[in-house]
Amino acid sequence: MKITVVGTGYVGLVTGTCLAETGNHVCCVDIDQRKVEKLRNGIMPIYEPGLEKLFERNLKEDRLSFTTSLQEGIDHGEIVFLALPTPPGEDGSADLKYVLGVAENIGKILTDYKVIIDKSTVPVGTAEKVQAAVAKNYDGEFDVVSNPEFLREGVAVEDFMKPDRIVIGTTSERAQKLLTELYAPYVRQGNPIIFMDERSAELTKYAANAFLATKISFMNEIAQLCERLGADVDMVRRGIGSDDRIGKRFLFPGIGYGGSCFPKDVQALVFSAKEVSYEFQILDAVTEVNKRQKVHLVNKIKRYYNNGLAGKHFAIWGLAFKPNTDDIREAPALEIINALLEAGATVAAFDPEAMENVKNIVGDKIVFAETQYDCLQNADALIIATEWNEFRTPDFDKILEAMKDTVVFDGRNLFDIEQMEKKGFHYESIGRPL
Ligand code: UGA
Repeated sequence: MKITVVGTGYVGLVTGTCLAETGNHVCCVDIDQRKVEKLRNGIMPIYEPGLEKLFERNLKEDRLSFTTSLQEGIDHGEIVFLALPTPPGEDGSADLKYVLGVAENIGKILTDYKVIIDKSTVPVGTAEKVQAAVAKNYDGEFDVVSNPEFLREGVAVEDFMKPDRIVIGTTSERAQKLLTELYAPYVRQGNPIIFMDERSAELTKYAANAFLATKISFMNEIAQLCERLGADVDMVRRGIGSDDRIGKRFLFPGIGYGGSCFPKDVQALVFSAKEVSYEFQILDAVTEVNKRQKVHLVNKIKRYYNNGLAGKHFAIWGLAFKPNTDDIREAPALEIINALLEAGATVAAFDPEAMENVKNIVGDKIVFAETQYDCLQNADALIIATEWNEFRTPDFDKILEAMKDTVVFDGRNLFDIEQMEKKGFHYESIGRPL
């Protein structure tokens, strides 16, 4: 099939590449000339495991092309995905200027039937707005569909190729038929394509992310209680996760959720609720708990040093908001670094993928180490902020040798408490006994 993807951000690139992988011809449109040049030359601007290989192959086989011309893009595809940014406004609402701007321009170009698909996470009612924006300049037949993505950064290719489910919001039979055909190769194992109306599909996306964020904040509160009551959150997690109704996944406490999705989507849903005079009380608490959790590890550190952080030197392992990505948006590590610097400490950091991005923000205020062990030189304490696999079974002798003092603050509960004690570490983690 011939597909167009407008927007070559994270979602657009994964969507375009994965659709080309099953034999479709995909034309990706972006206004950023330099980015398009790079993509044409085979340079992938984001880090996502497995993506580059698929991208290179499909580019070579001419199933994937890039252009800055919306006209060229729209002429190409019968199915047009909109994968455009929806940044949060100051009040928490999602700003639709890019989505609606492109929709209006598409209306000026259309000459025959197209399915226009909202792939971005957009507030309920956006499909209707897109419909109206296109219809301003075009009175022929077209459909606007909500088809939210449920991709996790770090495993996005796998999530796209083998989705748990595909949610499609449209009541148009013509669009349903086309999309059933498009997605058939991705649901061969029997995972469902769930058809519904546009509004329900739009809300499904927010409900999924808000529910997952709630799960995390809930566990972070249980962890806080564990610390105060002398219980072990690892045990409680296993104890409740074995109940199918609760499920084992997404029950890990830590230093708060980050990334470009959960914080933004929770805020946007609260805002949408307010607009229809509903106070989404749980979600206000979810956000508050998350803010508190992001400074929880810093509070532990301050307590350990009796607030005397001036002159201390900290090593931080992990800067990305989670492993297998270079994404640092809303990353808890950034807040930890700021708090430490503010308190007069110095910081050295190591992350396998995200150091460049952090360098662009903090410059030379901290030291960026070549390896996870270099990072430890003369450190008073090691802080673990992201659970990259290479941090899970480190060479403890090397750690002990490099550090000035043997103190570890672990925001991701990577190590066994007893073993850390045996090795001679002062070890503090989240929701577990000291
Ligand atoms: C999330 C959703 O999981 C995807 O389904 C969705 O498509 C995506 O947002 C989106 O809206 O585009 P993502 O932001 O990539 O995906 O990251 P997650 O793996 O969901 O992790 C989010 C945050 O929760 C991370 O900061 C992670 O450290 C934290 N987390 C996750 C925990 O603190 N505990 C857990 O048990 C799981």
